Amino acid sequence: MINLRGVTKIYGSGQTEFRAVDDITLDISDGEFVAIVGKSGSGKSTLLNLIGTLDSISVGSITVDGEEIGSLKGKELARFRNQKIGFVFQNFYLEPEYTVRECVEIPLILAGSFGKENTEKVDKALKLVDLSDKMKSKTKTLSGGEQQRVAIARAIINDPHFILADEPCGNLDGKNSENIMNIFKNLHAQGRTILMVTHDEQDAHMAQRIVTLADGRVISDEKNTLFY
Ligand SMILES: Nc1ncnc2c1ncn2[C@@H]1O[C@H](COP(=O)(O)OP(=O)(O)OP(=O)(O)O)[C@@H](O)[C@H]1O
Ligand SMILES: [Mg+2]
Repeated sequence: MINLRGVTKIYGSGQTEFRAVDDITLDISDGEFVAIVGKSGSGKSTLLNLIGTLDSISVGSITVDGEEIGSLKGKELARFRNQKIGFVFQNFYLEPEYTVRECVEIPLILAGSFGKENTEKVDKALKLVDLSDKMKSKTKTLSGGEQQRVAIARAIINDPHFILADEPCGNLDGKNSENIMNIFKNLHAQGRTILMVTHDEQDAHMAQRIVTLADGRVISDEKNTLFY
């Protein structure tokens, strides 16, 4: 469960003060698939980054499974990032010289896990994103769609409660976007909670719930009937 209470992110101060996220109160239940939409600059990435602890909240609070994330520090914060959430970005952010297998294993190593258990988990995650045959390739040699699939495998390797995705299909063509959306659909069907920022109306309608932002505020919050 994710609970946002009066969440505000202020950039700058005085005359240049700007509220990128402005007083957002929102509850996301376990198992929900939520699309976050809105015009460019409406605060979508800022909101996701606040939930993912990549940016700090100015006012308000966010609790994730009852834990107030603003108060997490050091080891606790590292554990939260490593195990509670899986982040997928528009630009993939993979280590270019690493092989696919190495890249997907990193979060496991950071969590203190080594050896055969890791091999099995990585195999399973790569199978899920249909990349078993590219396991030994360096990530920089992969296509965009393949790179995003590696990023998803890496994001889910520690079995996080929440998957946060910021325009995961933003740099992909139609066919690759469809593949990625199908993976998210499967992850949701397996019971995972997903928050996905998207510009694509069709992708947004794959979610159960569509939250629309404008000027850092929620202007609509609609539940959909899933069509799959
Ligand atoms: N570090 C920063 N300093 C100052 N302003 C910022 C900073 N980061 C974001 N902003 C501003 O906050 C607003 C919201 O940005 P954000 O990246 O969340 O928008 P977005 O909805 O994700 O847009 P897009 O669809 O273009 O990705 C924008 O006006 C942006 O210029
Ligand atoms: Mg953005």
